[in-house]
Amino acid sequence: MSPSVPIPTRRVFSGAQPTGAMHLGNYLGAFRNWVRLQQSYECLYCVVDLHAITVWQDPKTLADQTRRAAAAFIAAGVDPKRSILFNQSQVAAHSELAWIFNCVARVGWLNRMTQFKDKAGKNRERASVGLYVYPTLMAADILAYKATHVPVGEDQKQHLELTRDIAARFNQDFGAEVFPLVEPVIFGPGARVMSLRDGTKKMSKSDPSDASRINLTDDADAIARKIRRAKTDPEPLPDSATGLEGRPEAANLVGIFAALADRTVDDVLGEFAGKGFAEFKNALAELAVATLGPITEEMLRLERDPAVIDRILADGAERAAAMAAPVLAEVRHVVGFLDPRHGRR
Ligand code: TRP
Repeated sequence: MSPSVPIPTRRVFSGAQPTGAMHLGNYLGAFRNWVRLQQSYECLYCVVDLHAITVWQDPKTLADQTRRAAAAFIAAGVDPKRSILFNQSQVAAHSELAWIFNCVARVGWLNRMTQFKDKAGKNRERASVGLYVYPTLMAADILAYKATHVPVGEDQKQHLELTRDIAARFNQDFGAEVFPLVEPVIFGPGARVMSLRDGTKKMSKSDPSDASRINLTDDADAIARKIRRAKTDPEPLPDSATGLEGRPEAANLVGIFAALADRTVDDVLGEFAGKGFAEFKNALAELAVATLGPITEEMLRLERDPAVIDRILADGAERAAAMAAPVLAEVRHVVGFLDPRHGRR
């Protein structure tokens, strides 16, 4: 009889794809929060290269981007000793559990996923099958460790709902409390950073305009230039958050300031009410350079030494695999797969 693995009370799993440049939106919306969670949770942070290949990736670029994403996590403050930092493809449990979940999830559930509709666009017939089952792999990422808390942006909430549906359905179908129902950890305002060119669009690595985002590899000049050229409106800054309604660009810049300074929006507006954007942007540029400068420097330092990152990822993968192994043994047993290594059924 395979022993069941207890469900932990506070275990975090999160991931980011190694595609495109890491930017301020990733930092404020994800990495910075991951860093904070390390204080009170056992954390696993994953570069999700298996998810990346759901759309075409040039192989050499994928390897570079995987190291770069890991460097960004570390530079932001993810501690690879305290937390488990690894790339997904090095731990086979993710793929194995994803297959089982493909047989638990229903086609109707996946048909409702809005991210697939957005990413596949009009050419749905030509999208990879992997893109369609992307959410079952995400559920496997989380549940291979019985993680209980998952920090994600708003856009991933639907995938987490699906993860809960899969966990509940698995537990019910097999009559065993194997998986926890994960809780999303959604971060407050400041977590959603918008494009510097259009305050209604998310800051994104896929935006063709480089001026729309602050990359974590931008130097001080580039950061200051992009902030000074950011789109705004002609009005001065209001004296409270309600005055930012209907002013998406102004709201975005003030939100970025508040997030970087760890202050509330009202508090920031208390300081800048009635002032013009020229003055505010100077202050924001200075703050952004001071906060991001050390991160950029650390990222560039790490990127000069790929062997160090490779060692960190290999170590993380080994620890992750050891944590997932008993969960997978339990799952195989519960499903009825013959596995003599773990005793007779
Ligand atoms: N789909 C997530 C994103 O695009 C990345 C991801 C993959 C993830 N697996 C995960 C996030 C597991 C949280 C937990 O942002």
